[in-house]
Amino acid sequence: MSQPSLTVTDNRTGKSLEVPVQDGAVRAIDLRQFKTSPDDFGLLSYDPAYLNTASCRSTITFIDGDKGILEYRGFPIDQLAERSTMAECAYLTVHGELPTSAQLTSWEREIASNYNLPAGVLPTIYAFDRASHPCVMMISCLAALSGQYPDARRVLDPAARNLQAMRLIGHVPTLAATIYRHTQGHPPISPDASLPYTANFLRMMFAGPDGKYQPSKALVRAMDVLLILHLDHEQNCSTSTMRGVASSHSDLFCAASAAMAALYGPLHGGANEEVLHMLKQIGHQDKVADFVKSVKEGHGKIMGFGHRVYKNYDPRARVIKQMADAVFAEVGKNPLIDLALELERIALSDEYFISRKLYPNVDFYSGLVYEAFKLPEPMFTVMFAVARASGWAAHYLEIMQDAEQKIARPRQLYLGARGRNYVPIGKR
Ligand code: SDX
Repeated sequence: MSQPSLTVTDNRTGKSLEVPVQDGAVRAIDLRQFKTSPDDFGLLSYDPAYLNTASCRSTITFIDGDKGILEYRGFPIDQLAERSTMAECAYLTVHGELPTSAQLTSWEREIASNYNLPAGVLPTIYAFDRASHPCVMMISCLAALSGQYPDARRVLDPAARNLQAMRLIGHVPTLAATIYRHTQGHPPISPDASLPYTANFLRMMFAGPDGKYQPSKALVRAMDVLLILHLDHEQNCSTSTMRGVASSHSDLFCAASAAMAALYGPLHGGANEEVLHMLKQIGHQDKVADFVKSVKEGHGKIMGFGHRVYKNYDPRARVIKQMADAVFAEVGKNPLIDLALELERIALSDEYFISRKLYPNVDFYSGLVYEAFKLPEPMFTVMFAVARASGWAAHYLEIMQDAEQKIARPRQLYLGARGRNYVPIGKR
């Protein structure tokens, strides 16, 4: 079969050209052949917010938004949530295969060897007022790690890149826990390298001054599943931001800091915090119908609903919703869950949301579970980042090995003035 292609006719000139199709896409650069004169720059593709533009080739995460499918390296998220662990999924995402027992043991040991933070990053945390948003602290601390690891700038050295990735994956739980404890006025708890990833993280977060913390297996498992579900999501806003910074050959920690800044946004990872604000603002189930009416009239959004890619139920939301019951059985039911369920019920039966294919996304129920861990809302997006840091690391390693990639530098459609002459201020 000949190379799949489009035959495109430029009606401005009557000229037709074959544009190759590969992997379900045409190359935007091929449009530059369409010119109306020899000095014409040629056609650009215009795609604000990149609704229909692929920025890269990747083999890490697959999403089918219409079918509500999410796979890490081809493994369905519901199987991983049910049978895997965060550490194992981080290995899978970075290396592309599920680890053997020996590989997993070595991987966990290598991550644990990076649990401890470099002392030089701690002043960055304590420079912040306790009331500062923990996401802002995380943004700064991730960049501060770049100052602690000058070898991170050796971005063309695969061994140096892999070392920074392990440092990021190992450091982020300790950063999150130390930041959280700072906001609570508590001293940090040192990591325990003998504990698995998630158990160590929970202990650093919630242990008392004596360092003791004995969470139930159910709670550790619930957090492990939450981390698995948030680990990666292909070219989302924060991962794309990370890739953009990495493309200039800045280091992984600066790229992760930029990604964290994007994740902080309420339309992205910050939505889990906004969901709780929304539910508390609604206040009671009998107020849900009025809230939905106000949204339909254009006053705000249902936070935790809708998605750029999913036009079906986000498979992660389904898992979290099912898992919430197990957590509430341990720590007591979050009364807001009934309000959230009523909001989902009303919205999913309303033509306004059905026609726009708006369903609960990963953020709709996650905050209710985080709250069950007694976490304050500002920490929810930091929890998201603890997981997503492994995804950012995987995408960093992928883009830095991608021979097709160069510094990311989009073009624009310039519609402004041209060729103006300077006017002295007295004559304006
Ligand atoms: C995450 O990309 C990822 O993969 C992200 C993520 C990941 O794992 O990395 O999945 C994590 O960020 C999940 C999304 C969290 N954000 C929220 O829950 C915030 C609320 N959702 C919306 O802001 C919105 O749905 C977005 C930002 C998620 C998606 O926005 P789009 O794709 O740009 O869609 P849009 O704003 O163009 O909306 C299309 C229509 C509009 O109505 P019309 O102008 O056609 O009349 O749907 C409406 C929107 O007003 N709409 C909503 C809505 N989301 C979209 N109406 C009410 N409530 C909502 N939540």
